[in-house]
Amino acid sequence: MLTAYDYPTARLVAEAGVDLILVGDSLGMVVLGYDSTIPVTVDDMVHHTKAARRGAPNAFLVADLPFLSYATVEQALENAARLMRDAGADSVKLEGGVEVAPVVQALVRAGVPVLGHVGLTPQTASALGGYRLQGKDEQDARRIMQGAQGLEAAGCWGVVLELVPAGLAKLITERLGIPTIGIGAGADCDGQVLVFHDVVGLFSGFTPTFVKRYTEAGASIRDALARYAEEVRSGAFPTESQAFSIKDEVLKRLYGS
Ligand code: KIV
Repeated sequence: MLTAYDYPTARLVAEAGVDLILVGDSLGMVVLGYDSTIPVTVDDMVHHTKAARRGAPNAFLVADLPFLSYATVEQALENAARLMRDAGADSVKLEGGVEVAPVVQALVRAGVPVLGHVGLTPQTASALGGYRLQGKDEQDARRIMQGAQGLEAAGCWGVVLELVPAGLAKLITERLGIPTIGIGAGADCDGQVLVFHDVVGLFSGFTPTFVKRYTEAGASIRDALARYAEEVRSGAFPTESQAFSIKDEVLKRLYGS
């Protein structure tokens, strides 16, 4: 799984043969320039999910329910409907463990496929002490295990495990009957997810240590743009081959000799 947020990124991810696309609320940081996912709205998610769907018409597309959009069952149903019916998502993702199980149950009962998300949950990161490893001690590891199991019992089709020790992710993966998708959770999850902009080097803000950059697209784009600006200033662009001609006699008739 990789994130994508618009037509070109979803198209690239689908063409690369990645199985699942997540329109994550991480778009708040990597696309909209916020410093967290908190300001992201349902309108933002609908807008970006529609664009991603146009880029990947046949992909299995999961869209995040953003912060406080699923605080009640009614809100969750209404906002999941916007993401699936209006924007074209196949499934929604929400963050939290046993505390969100009643919401998951209601969504699943209404026919909404739900992906869970435990461990570091960015929407509530400040309550968890910031963007840091979760489940290090026995009590916290138990909370995360019980959260994942509660999500399975509530009907989630899978669970994202974010920023938890690899051994804990392995144990959760062994104990669950549904797939786990890890991010900063080691190699023993059933699948992996990363943020598009991190993988291709397009986000110059904070890069977590669990990210692997497969290319430096940001650097090569910046270089290309600098060359463009330089060539426009020097007159090297455009050349005749990038321009269109007009017959001399037409010009003469317009302006005389
Ligand atoms: O919003 C997001 O991109 C996510 C992934 C990091 C799992 O939730």
